[in-house]
Amino acid sequence: MSRRIAVFGTGYLGATHAACMADLGHEVLGVDVDEAKLAKLSAGELPFYEPGLDDVLERNLANGRLRFTSSYSEAADFADVHFVGVGTPQRKGEFAADLSYVDAVIENLAPLLHRPAVIFGKSTVPVGTAERLGERARALAPAGSEVEVAWNPEFLREGFAVQDTLHPDRIVLGVDRRFAVRSEDVAREVYSQLLDEDIPFLVTDLATAELVKTAANAFLATKISFINAMAEVCEAAGADVTVLADAIGHDARIGRRFLNAGIGFGGGCLPKDIRAFMARAGEIGADEALTFLREVDNINMRRRTRMVELAREAVGGSLIGSRIAVLGAAFKPDSDDVRDSPALNIAGQLQLQGASVSVFDPKAMDNSRKLFPTLNYAASIEDACSGADVVLVLTEWSQFRELKPTSLDSVVRGKTIVDGRNCLNAAMWIQSGWDFRAVGVSKRAG
Ligand code: UDX
Repeated sequence: MSRRIAVFGTGYLGATHAACMADLGHEVLGVDVDEAKLAKLSAGELPFYEPGLDDVLERNLANGRLRFTSSYSEAADFADVHFVGVGTPQRKGEFAADLSYVDAVIENLAPLLHRPAVIFGKSTVPVGTAERLGERARALAPAGSEVEVAWNPEFLREGFAVQDTLHPDRIVLGVDRRFAVRSEDVAREVYSQLLDEDIPFLVTDLATAELVKTAANAFLATKISFINAMAEVCEAAGADVTVLADAIGHDARIGRRFLNAGIGFGGGCLPKDIRAFMARAGEIGADEALTFLREVDNINMRRRTRMVELAREAVGGSLIGSRIAVLGAAFKPDSDDVRDSPALNIAGQLQLQGASVSVFDPKAMDNSRKLFPTLNYAASIEDACSGADVVLVLTEWSQFRELKPTSLDSVVRGKTIVDGRNCLNAAMWIQSGWDFRAVGVSKRAG
């Protein structure tokens, strides 16, 4: 059955959710306070790059099932099902999450709810938030306890956002069993097509649902830092971390996915989510349980320093006066997101230490310029590599993986390449006479 749905927040999470819910046949209103963003979305333009989402957006604008507004009262009149997908960034100078955007949605929406309604939170929040928001919504809403707050965490990956929203691994729904009357039924209606595909549907209490999300991200971050710690050991021991990952990954209990050693994780989720998780654990008296995440964070940040050191070694010991080509600025391929991007962070550090850095990324140039306006931005791979003493591959875009040494031979000043993502064919570069280096592979093993 088609429902009328409002989605609050039109970032990666909200815009994707709104467009995909419309694609499932629902009537959807996307709500945001940013008029410029709304104007773009209403014109069928995405404010960020996400493969396949533009088609879903256009299709559902055209068929009239998807609209955007800045008016909360329009949303409250239109829908009885509300999704909250606003950001929960890291607070400045603290580990904890900034919940002001989530709080603002409830403060502004709840007083307008005169009919029974369900508010599904999708944002990643510290455990305990959903219960608090439920109390607040019931207190503010004219419909009182007929307003339910449930938590439905989102696990989408950038680059696969549409696929992950329409075909998730699982749907988790946390409900406050003291008050929830409609939440589960409404969620089953909204996601009926997904449930028909036998996607696992887990109904929990609010706290467990909130924790599922943070636990999943903490596990993924730990897996990446584990292999990056092995990379450090491999470098010291003269071993090859990629072969090691392949070999341990064959054990089904371990699995090969998310075992790619390199310059570590970044983006708008994993770094801030593990920090917010530690902060929240401290508040609820469980800080010892998560002290290992501090080490996960440290290992991850050390990868960036290690890459700067590798670049310094590659240019002969001093970055001052060197020319460095950086291929990749996004925190991962198929994204234009540079939030806490290891690649851009490394480019910035190299420049601060005296190198002249030229950056190229297929999609993240505009966002990079805004964040690091002082770096040189090149128009192409060749342009970035022109006159370079060393080429660093820091995001594993397919364009870079498929790069042929011959295309750069006559462009660079020094034939040295450092693979920060273990994504290149080492043998090919070595055979072409290049000095090839990689993280987690000592020169001996490489
Ligand atoms: C992540 C979670 O995967 C997703 O479930 C959650 O909803 C949001 O956070 P995302 O931030 O899109 O998604 O990126 P992800 O694909 O998880 O990659 C995160 C970072 O880890 C990237 O910087 C990536 O380059 C790095 N990474 C990933 C590695 O360094 N090695 C790996 O093996 C995998």
